[in-house]
Amino acid sequence: MHNQDTTTNSAVSQGQQAVEQTLTDTVLASFDNCENPRLKEIMRSLVTHLHAFVRDVRLTEEEWNTAIEFLTDVGHITDDKRQEFILLSDVLGVSMQTINVNNATYKDATEATVFGPFFVEDAPEIPIGGDIAGGAPGQPCWVEGTVKDTNGNPVPNARIEVWEADDDGFYDVQYTDGRVSGRAHLYSDENGNYSFWGLTPTPYPIPYDGPVGKMLDATGRSPMRASHLHFMVTAENLRTLVTHIFVDGDELLQSDTVFGVKDSLIKNFEEQPASAPTPDGRDLEDQTWSRVEFDIVLAPENV
Ligand code: BEZ
Ligand code: FE
Repeated sequence: MHNQDTTTNSAVSQGQQAVEQTLTDTVLASFDNCENPRLKEIMRSLVTHLHAFVRDVRLTEEEWNTAIEFLTDVGHITDDKRQEFILLSDVLGVSMQTINVNNATYKDATEATVFGPFFVEDAPEIPIGGDIAGGAPGQPCWVEGTVKDTNGNPVPNARIEVWEADDDGFYDVQYTDGRVSGRAHLYSDENGNYSFWGLTPTPYPIPYDGPVGKMLDATGRSPMRASHLHFMVTAENLRTLVTHIFVDGDELLQSDTVFGVKDSLIKNFEEQPASAPTPDGRDLEDQTWSRVEFDIVLAPENV
């Protein structure tokens, strides 16, 4: 259901509505001389929606000051390591909506989801069947699949970047000791196949010790992300895919705080007893492990 048309709120007199609408129209007209048509379109739309919001909730001056203070705090905590504005965009679903708009579903192409703040360029290269864990604690997980295009052709030599949090819910970059773990890249083989050892994903919170965390708390929301393993897949002439896979049965699937879950990305991480032989003969010294299949389909560029 759509909200009522808030610019014609019946509790507001017609005269008052006219005053408010005149201001909106005047601000919109202030962009008339903007020579960049796209910038003009964006600014006009932004003003239209911001004014409608203020009028919709009948925003008080005190509330607007609180909002300004909040945004100021978001700015103050942001530096080259901590990006609170992206976090804010993530928890408001703006990141995810931008991804939806820019990665239109196309045939059976794998769906995209949020990038998140923990990708690092130049993660180590591993061979097919290698281990991304790099000493990170967690249950070993065998990940395998194919990379294909939407015509079903295998995509050889696709670059597959993978990264994930450890069993304690932290990415390597969240530790201060400079470790590189839980991340790597590899290339699909000549038949488009790939496999690697990772860790069975576990749930973890987004950084919530700042203003975004306070906002989640004040609005009764959890900072938890559903368990996931990140992928970024690039191949010549195909659309770059940024996505995750999620763990079927995870109770956080319905409440992922950045709205990143899509049904097609929920995969069966099959638990294996310690006694089960591993696909590559790796000796896991009596540990349980899991395995998951993820077949990746890349859309053509520019669709
Ligand atoms: C993550 O996937 O790790 C993440 C995504 C969005 C915000 C914070 C964390
Ligand atoms: Fe993540």
